[in-house]
Amino acid sequence: MTMDAHRLRYLKALDIDVWVSRGAAEEVVRAEAASVPPEQAANVSVNVNVGAQHAAPLRPVEPLQPSVVSPVAALDWFELEAAVKACTKCALHRTRKNPVFGVGSRHAQWMVIGEAPGADEDAQGEPFVGRAGQLLNSMIKAVGLKREDVYIANILKSRPPNNRDPAPEEVTACIPYLHRQIELVNPKLLLCVGRIAAQNLLNTDTPIGKLRGQVHRLGNRPVVVTYHPAYLLRSPGEKRRAWQDLVLAMNTMQGVAS
Ligand code: URA
Repeated sequence: MTMDAHRLRYLKALDIDVWVSRGAAEEVVRAEAASVPPEQAANVSVNVNVGAQHAAPLRPVEPLQPSVVSPVAALDWFELEAAVKACTKCALHRTRKNPVFGVGSRHAQWMVIGEAPGADEDAQGEPFVGRAGQLLNSMIKAVGLKREDVYIANILKSRPPNNRDPAPEEVTACIPYLHRQIELVNPKLLLCVGRIAAQNLLNTDTPIGKLRGQVHRLGNRPVVVTYHPAYLLRSPGEKRRAWQDLVLAMNTMQGVAS
């Protein structure tokens, strides 16, 4: 993969040690040096590790189909958003301030799937707007995209009180909305952030440590799993693995791009 200085800046902002080839590292150092005044160029230090370049090998698993068939599957965007806003299928509608439908390009090639709204998202009605959202934005930039280029949605559209894990019946009630969003956006790749998103989308109990590092399928669509940005904020040492996941996602996109 060619690593340009622009992308490296975001990776540095993520505080990620990046493993790149020696040639690429030199290219980055040159580009970085060129972007600062000559008197400062001698002091440019780029935090790259020269060595391994690839995440774990692509390992497709058996196709999985959406586990729930629902009338929601026939709705268009307008109807779907209205249905989510009016939804009372689980008790969370009583405690939420706002439903959180989803945001971004409805023609996106990348779709990011999170768990559920937190307090900030509940207040604003938009996914990933809090601290975790800022890190997610940096992760999106690290793969060369802007937040508005991707589509972002959650497994649950309503906030669970105190940010507890979604209950199974809440997921069963809500996940048809997400499946319909996926069909309507028709992205080339799904990026699941966090255990809850990955396990519910892939319908598995497998721990996240085993889900990441391989390419799963939802129908024919590739799914890559990485850590939740909120977890990465608590465990910054895992950002290196998250970067490997993003590299896997970028490689996978290259394979499916038409
Ligand atoms: N965490 C999530 O999983 N989704 C959000 O929208 C915000 C935080």
